[in-house]
Amino acid sequence: MGFQKELEQKVIEIEQILEKYLPAEEGYQKTVIEAMNYSLLAGGKRLRPLLTTESAAVFGGTGAVIEPFAAALEMIHTYSLVHDDLPAMDNDMYRRGKKTTHVVYGEAMAILAGDGLLNYAFETACKAFTIEPGQEAVGKALTVLASKAGVYGMIGGQVADVEAEKRGLAIDEKKLLYIHEHKTAALIQASFMIGAILAGATDADVKLLEIAAYNIGMAFQIQDDILDVTSSLEVLGKPIGSDEKNNKLTYVKAYGLEQAKADVESMSSEAIEILQRMNNRNIFLEDLVQHLITREK
Ligand code: IPE
Ligand code: IPE
Ligand code: MG
Ligand code: MG
Ligand code: MG
Repeated sequence: MGFQKELEQKVIEIEQILEKYLPAEEGYQKTVIEAMNYSLLAGGKRLRPLLTTESAAVFGGTGAVIEPFAAALEMIHTYSLVHDDLPAMDNDMYRRGKKTTHVVYGEAMAILAGDGLLNYAFETACKAFTIEPGQEAVGKALTVLASKAGVYGMIGGQVADVEAEKRGLAIDEKKLLYIHEHKTAALIQASFMIGAILAGATDADVKLLEIAAYNIGMAFQIQDDILDVTSSLEVLGKPIGSDEKNNKLTYVKAYGLEQAKADVESMSSEAIEILQRMNNRNIFLEDLVQHLITREK
């Protein structure tokens, strides 16, 4: 099977996992659950859950215990997008080819849907405690999920991103790296690390994957900054020019398009070299990282 076909197949499998864990649209909270499911089911590349299952596969892990965590990662990622698009943040009207959650359900419901997704992610991940092989690895995986998503992880990155929206300030390269590492690489690191932990990887291998995922996450956000300039709403499913509109501190703004493209390549290559050094190779995962360099959405 070619890479593209295999990717499509695996994304279908991820969406089946996600479907299993969706909250039911009923009760007095029905509206917020509809808004949660609207944003979750709007599409998207499903990259983080895919990285979790593929990272587990490097260590021979395929168990059911990985599934609630894969779903939880997509829920946290999706909540971060719902809040990122709010008028008080990036103020964007399209996401994943559809109207953003606040445009469809109103701001109050979008804020609550984000809160709901974040909390439901942990409710979902905790279901892994009832699935073999059990407690210790699940506890470790939860610890990684909580910290990489939190104020020292993704949220911290979003804070610095918002505060860096000031016209006329000199470009702070250290802050730019902080923003990209935290707002984006942190959840990608969590995806890799959690898959590995649940599959029984050694602490040393989890650390190596954290480094590989740093490079993949940085490259991913740099490419996202590039596409904000070079793509289109039709292809991307979200508006281009959002960074310019909000005067964001982006990699393209700091280093220019050509340097940004070169750094996406070199950081991805560094990550692939680490993956190639693992005892077990996962060729699909290496191809996926390679594929992200030239992704158009
Ligand atoms: C968008 O993430 C936000 C960033 C961290 C760049 P994705 O590009 O993975 O968005 P979806 O999940 O495919 O919609
Ligand atoms: C957001 O970065 C990363 C998140 C944690 C949501 P961006 O603001 O660049 O993401 P997009 O371009 O709106 O997807
Ligand atoms: Mg943003
Ligand atoms: Mg945004
Ligand atoms: Mg962006």
